[in-house]
Amino acid sequence: MNFPKAKKVNIQRYEGGLSKIAGITNPIKLSSNESALGCSPAAAKAIDKIKKKIFKYPDSNSSLLKKQLAKIFNVKNNQLIIGSGSDEIISFACQAFLEKGDEVIVPEFSFLMYRIYAQINEAKIIYAKENNLKISIDSILNCITKKTKIIFLANPNNPTGTYLTENELRYLQQRIPTNVLLVVDDAYWEYVQKKDYSSGLSIFKNAKNVLVLRTFSKIYGLASLRLGWGYSSKSIISSLLTYKPPFNITTTAELAGVSALKDNKWLKKNISHNNFWCKKIFEKLKEKNIKCNLPNANFFLMQFSKKYDANNIFNKFAKSGVILRKMNNYKIKNSLRVTVGNAQESKLFIKLIDRFF
Ligand SMILES: Cc1ncc(COP(=O)(O)O)c(C=O)c1O
Repeated sequence: MNFPKAKKVNIQRYEGGLSKIAGITNPIKLSSNESALGCSPAAAKAIDKIKKKIFKYPDSNSSLLKKQLAKIFNVKNNQLIIGSGSDEIISFACQAFLEKGDEVIVPEFSFLMYRIYAQINEAKIIYAKENNLKISIDSILNCITKKTKIIFLANPNNPTGTYLTENELRYLQQRIPTNVLLVVDDAYWEYVQKKDYSSGLSIFKNAKNVLVLRTFSKIYGLASLRLGWGYSSKSIISSLLTYKPPFNITTTAELAGVSALKDNKWLKKNISHNNFWCKKIFEKLKEKNIKCNLPNANFFLMQFSKKYDANNIFNKFAKSGVILRKMNNYKIKNSLRVTVGNAQESKLFIKLIDRFF
């Protein structure tokens, strides 16, 4: 008998950070770089208020959210696209620009969805080398061929936590052929406190071949509502919109996003919380000779010496009720990633580091 046969694609599916541990009730999840403090109270209020309206389809243009984004970031509405997470915009970009045999450049250790969506769209992935877990601009430039269609990078980068300076990013963009799309993923930009850093949006507002990605899943604490946005030239946004389902953004997500954007006080609170605990965690990791990135985002990639085994450390933390992120899928040896949690979670993490090292 013949059955429906799906086409063959050779892709390693994305595995998110674990959220459960057998035998442990209410574990502490520090595996997905989510917000330490949750969403803004104003956003929570907006979610509560929308209950009576959920029987209506959402506004397919997310006009209120675009208006708020335009106001806050000084951008034009017709250069914005809203996605069900920035993840969905990565998918739109791959659908819009890739054909079989095209090449996509990603840094060796980078967010896995870039390569997954590129592979779904039958592109060949070219891995640019990193130096000491920092994206190498020279390596990216050396990887460019006539077949290159898209270059993806996150700044700061996940999972390495390193970043390219404004000058480095400008240098790279100036040397990329204008027919290649450069995607700069700003997922963690709010957390960066370095003078030589600038977000993709502020650097490339007028670039014709750059797509900037932003998300509400990190500092805004709205990961489960799935909300992200992209900014690019009118022409690129118009190409992406072809692939956007009409109702990809729920009204709940849109209105929560609008309220979250207005709550600057909450944003600042998150940033100072992150600064405070990043410093404490960084000092502790340093004290224990655990190699890690400088505090540039809301997470640390911990690289262990031969004396310790990452799987073993993962299990020890798990038994104590704390879930870290394994780095096996990213192919970073003997490493684990930890997200900065709330005060109680961070204190426990530091206590456990003391106990296990
Ligand atoms: C660099 C980077 N980009 C995008 C995302 C996904 O964001 P979203 O939840 O908006 O799809 C993540 C999530 O971990 C990420 O680390």
